[in-house]
Amino acid sequence: MSLPLLSLLLACGGPPQTSEGAASETALTERELAQALSLSPLPALPPSPSNRVADDPAAAALGRALFFDARMSSNGEVSCASCHQPARHFTDGERVAKGVGVGKRNTPTLIGGVYSSWQFWDGRADTLWSQALGPIESPLEHGLDRVRVAHLVFNHHRAAYEAIFGPMPPMDDRARFPEFGRPWPGEPQGPDHQAWIRMAEADQGAVNEVFANVGKALEAFQRTLTPQPSSFDRYVAARRAGDATGGGHLSAEAERGLKLFVGEASCVLCHNGPNLADDAFHSLGLPTTPSEGLDMGRAVGARLVLSAEFNCAGPYSDTTDCPELRYLNPEFPDFILAFKTPSLRHVAQTAPYMHDGRFKTLDEVLNFYSTLPGEPPLGHRELTLKPLKLSPDELSALTAFLESLSAPAPEVSPPSPS
Ligand code: HEC
Ligand code: HEC
Repeated sequence: MSLPLLSLLLACGGPPQTSEGAASETALTERELAQALSLSPLPALPPSPSNRVADDPAAAALGRALFFDARMSSNGEVSCASCHQPARHFTDGERVAKGVGVGKRNTPTLIGGVYSSWQFWDGRADTLWSQALGPIESPLEHGLDRVRVAHLVFNHHRAAYEAIFGPMPPMDDRARFPEFGRPWPGEPQGPDHQAWIRMAEADQGAVNEVFANVGKALEAFQRTLTPQPSSFDRYVAARRAGDATGGGHLSAEAERGLKLFVGEASCVLCHNGPNLADDAFHSLGLPTTPSEGLDMGRAVGARLVLSAEFNCAGPYSDTTDCPELRYLNPEFPDFILAFKTPSLRHVAQTAPYMHDGRFKTLDEVLNFYSTLPGEPPLGHRELTLKPLKLSPDELSALTAFLESLSAPAPEVSPPSPS
């Protein structure tokens, strides 16, 4: 090469970029790589000290039977699996849930729920076992009451129950145990509450015990619904083993999405750790029209969990050590319109999105983060959020990354009839 030509090339900024140069632009920085590695693998299941049968296989089998049992509803048609459908990654594909009535919130997946300290979009339950008791008595979901639940267990699951929890109360003694009943302070004159207050206190306690144990069996079952490895998990395993290509488990596009996720787009501020969720509550400032009525989210959920009859610190818990509750301040102003950060594992398989199911596709979610339209009607949007103004390329890269978190649902066969 003659000298004048070389100097011309240098003046123009050096030789044209090689493909290697392009690749290093999209490669993760050291910090981004460390962040990416922190997202996988999932650790062993955390213990559930408030549930002594959490890891008892017999309790999981009873929980599975109850999960699919549609007799556990006022119309005999609704089971947990009606909304948490195994074939849909334990969601229902609806904007908001339809049980005995229609609810206001979107049905979350149950896969990996064991990794959350709080259950529900507003965290109004602090354990998986107490969570289950809410929908059973919700007039919009199962529409049942705890005395009926105890009869159902007595009539159809008694042997399995007694093998785990010991003798049941004599539910066939109709002088002591009416056909139905539950405390319902909101409707003190209603038949359910009236039947309940006529029961002896010890019998109320015995029914509560059965009810809590139903929740504990359901938790033992749900602990078996663990996330299966995704392409992203395989990519991380390869990178940990020193393979800079990540074993080819992510496309170049998905890897660019990962770089954005842990880097410039700062998704990891909230979707962090191996469950891709920070176990906390945030207001994203989703626009709300006044006619919809405001869902206050965590501001109400925090109060409810502290006063809940079946929380970790209550008489039906198997522990008294409940740090999460002890340090919870329901007056925290940032709880207004805040909802739980959902895990993003399987997210491409669990549309629609957000606590109210407002977004049908991941594109719609990402467009929201890109533009952050409107202002929340109360409180303020989490201050760390800024409109990301993502280009079409960046949007599809992020989508490709979110799709790499897909995995098959854990296999569960419905139990045989009892
Ligand atoms: C009518 C549909 C429906 C039925 C039936 C139903 N669920 Fe749900 N489930 C939902 C909805 C909707 C939510 C979110 C509600 C909220 O956050 O207020 C939810 C939330 C949950 C959560 C919390 C998940 C999370 O990420 O916070 C768990 C666990 C759960 N349900 C388990 C169960 C079990 C166990 C049963 C059966 C006893 C059941 N559900 C019955 C619709 C349903
Ligand atoms: C300030 C914390 C925070 C940040 C930062 C954040 N998220 Fe979220 N994300 C949440 C919360 C909270 C929700 C649920 C909000 C609701 O339902 O009201 C959510 C919901 C979602 C959902 C819907 C999941 C579902 O199952 O409904 C997706 C997808 C998502 N975020 C992806 C992202 C991506 C991608 C980024 C980065 C561009 C990001 N998030 C940044 C907190 C955050």
